[in-house]
Amino acid sequence: MPIKIMIVVGARPNFMKAAPIVTAIKQHNQGLKTDEPIRHVLVHTGQHYSASMSDTFFEDLKLSPPDVDLGVGSGSHAEQTAEIMKRFEPVLLRESPDALVVVGDVNSTIACTLVAAKVSLDSKGTRPLIAHVEAGLRSFDRSMPEEINRVLTDHISDLLFATEENALENLANEGIPRKKVHFVGNTMIDSLLACRDRAESSTILERLGLLQGAKDDHSNRSTRRYALLTLHRPANVDDRDVFLNIVDGLDGVIKDHVVIFPVHPRTQKRIAEFGLNDRFDTGADHRPGAIRLTEPLGYLDFMCLMANAALVITDSGGIQEETTCLGVPCVTVRENTERPSTLNTGTNVLAGVATNGIRSAISRQLESPVKGGVPELWDGKAAVRIVDILRRQCLEKRGIESGAEVVRA
Ligand code: UD1
Repeated sequence: MPIKIMIVVGARPNFMKAAPIVTAIKQHNQGLKTDEPIRHVLVHTGQHYSASMSDTFFEDLKLSPPDVDLGVGSGSHAEQTAEIMKRFEPVLLRESPDALVVVGDVNSTIACTLVAAKVSLDSKGTRPLIAHVEAGLRSFDRSMPEEINRVLTDHISDLLFATEENALENLANEGIPRKKVHFVGNTMIDSLLACRDRAESSTILERLGLLQGAKDDHSNRSTRRYALLTLHRPANVDDRDVFLNIVDGLDGVIKDHVVIFPVHPRTQKRIAEFGLNDRFDTGADHRPGAIRLTEPLGYLDFMCLMANAALVITDSGGIQEETTCLGVPCVTVRENTERPSTLNTGTNVLAGVATNGIRSAISRQLESPVKGGVPELWDGKAAVRIVDILRRQCLEKRGIESGAEVVRA
């Protein structure tokens, strides 16, 4: 019987972390010499549901549509988490997979993990192996919903796949046995490396008017200097004063650049609610220093914009890693990061959320950008390592459950 692996995605940053695992499973099946195929079932919780936050990522990542869509949508943390749990349990019971793979730190991650940790698939109480991809990252800031999701998910998972060495230390300090933990690299970087060539062909620079020179003379066209901004963390955008302090931090510092700001739906709502529309440009104005709003962008367009930016300013977790891999200077508008390798090895600096801190971090990164390297094992092969370990662990588990001799590959 084929090994069955269920993979859960829910929110925008999940899609690029899961896509390489699906690809690695397909590659495993294609190159098969033995009779050990792997079947995968992709479940989308629907935490993110709009075309710009979800559908476009499936197209860009060449990810087949989900097998199951729970259609959960938005709500408070409790509502969203509870609704995912209620809708996910019958799917898990029906599909009865050997393993469940969850990625990242969003509400979908903890909700599905919690269901799988307590489920009984048969009268013996069998449950799937639970594998957490991106385990062990810690901001040590329990006011972040994602930190709660990370800690809880790690403590009830069976296999913990770590993206950076620091995560191994965090998990050891929390008493998680080393044999559960596997340092495999970063599947988000697998996606980035796999899609980089296609991202270079994106027309987004043209569409945003960021190319200068005659349209029919490609050899003489150059990219205008621009910075790229993303902000969506509730702690940064849900309070008017905090949000304004951050926007003030950009004012007057980025004198020679336009700032491109693809706006997350949460942030869009706050800009309208707080009456801040006049702080931003919505047209194609290239007044230096202007902050120009765009819709949320697809994966390839966003990667193209990141790769060509003079500077990226963000409060996202994943973008800190992607800019490190691309060698683009990054200013993170947060007091902490759960991704210290981007600071120690990569191109990231932490600015905090105060106006002056942001100003000085931006000035430093523009005048003398941090030159970074790429963290260990961020080599595009993380998902292949994960699938190999999952396959072996599933076979071992089946061997133990049937009472047969343990199969070790
Ligand atoms: C979630 C994750 C966060 C991740 C982020 C990336 C949690 C706790 N947070 O935050 O870790 O960095 O996604 O985007 O899981 N909305 C739309 N269209 C959509 C999805 C959302 O308009 O497709 C709106 C919702 O109505 C909601 C807001 O955006 O008001 C926020 O969505 P939500 O899923 O609550 O969390 P995020 O802030 O996106």
